Amino acid sequence: MRLAGKTAVVTGGSSGLGRGMARLFCREGASVTVGDIDIEGGQETLRLVRAEGGNIRFHQADVSRWEEVGGLIEGAVAAFGRLDILVSNAGIGFSKPVEETTEADLDLVLGTNLKGVFAGCHYAVPVMKRQGGGAILNIASIHAFQGYKRHTAYAASKGGIVSLTKELAIELAPFFIRANAISPGYIAVTDYSAYWRGRVPEALWEEFEARFGSHVEDDVKYFQPLHMVARPEDVAHAAVYLVSDEARFVTGSHMIIDGGATVRMPKDDDPYAEKRRAHGLIRQWFEEKGLAW
Ligand SMILES: NC(=O)c1ccc[n+]([C@@H]2O[C@H](COP(=O)([O-])OP(=O)(O)OC[C@H]3O[C@@H](n4cnc5c(N)ncnc54)[C@H](O)[C@@H]3O)[C@@H](O)[C@H]2O)c1
Repeated sequence: MRLAGKTAVVTGGSSGLGRGMARLFCREGASVTVGDIDIEGGQETLRLVRAEGGNIRFHQADVSRWEEVGGLIEGAVAAFGRLDILVSNAGIGFSKPVEETTEADLDLVLGTNLKGVFAGCHYAVPVMKRQGGGAILNIASIHAFQGYKRHTAYAASKGGIVSLTKELAIELAPFFIRANAISPGYIAVTDYSAYWRGRVPEALWEEFEARFGSHVEDDVKYFQPLHMVARPEDVAHAAVYLVSDEARFVTGSHMIIDGGATVRMPKDDDPYAEKRRAHGLIRQWFEEKGLAW
């Protein structure tokens, strides 16, 4: 087991990528504290992990609140005696044109996605220094270095994470604390059919199904040159490596897990361009129907 005897905090572990990492870390022998605002999702993570014999606990914390992150780290150390790994993964998506983004929006996005990561380091680093080392892993996004419309606040938060990680690597190297980042592309954390079922009003479902039913996964699948629907495990396997002792000489690095999306050269003759338009067409349909996006 690659993380035997190690203890970890994974923020945002009540769902998606965080749940995937918490689960795989436990399978690899780590004891994990999940920090999240979502209690119900957290209980589900605990149920899944404990069914596999994993050692896991949940601590409710809002990562945008500095002291709550302190409580999360303190609670993890009190429960498991030490802290070897911090994965700052909790985050929210956000999409709005820059001129419509309010100060409150920006505070929410930067507060959750960037300040939350910073606060985790603020509290975890003294513990790791006392122990003589540790591993920090921050979850950014390909939005950190590739632009897309309506994502200014989100991109700013994720770009900040990448810069922060490089600085951490240098500042903390003398203490054998490593800091790395992962930038995922498009990873499916949900069942798409159920997702759209929850968003489309009952009266319009038949029409939505007829028009887009067989295409809801197309956008996810064809967005990235490796035409497949990526899942949380695709990120979790890389995370295990980066926080394990196998990566003892790896710090300040930034791993992109996006099926090749960021290295694709745009070409007019791309046969999959139409399939990738599915998301845009659904959005257009939402707008035509006056539905909230
Ligand atoms: N899934 C993707 O395609 C993708 C791509 C790039 C980056 N990411 C990043 O990966 C991370 C995980 O995303 P995901 O796709 O698993 O999303 P998700 O919504 O499934 O999970 C996010 C988790 O963070 C928690 N969370 C949100 N705000 C919080 C707060 N203030 N305090 C504590 N917990 C909070 C949520 O409750 C949830 O459990 C995020 O940082 C996201 O930006 C995801």
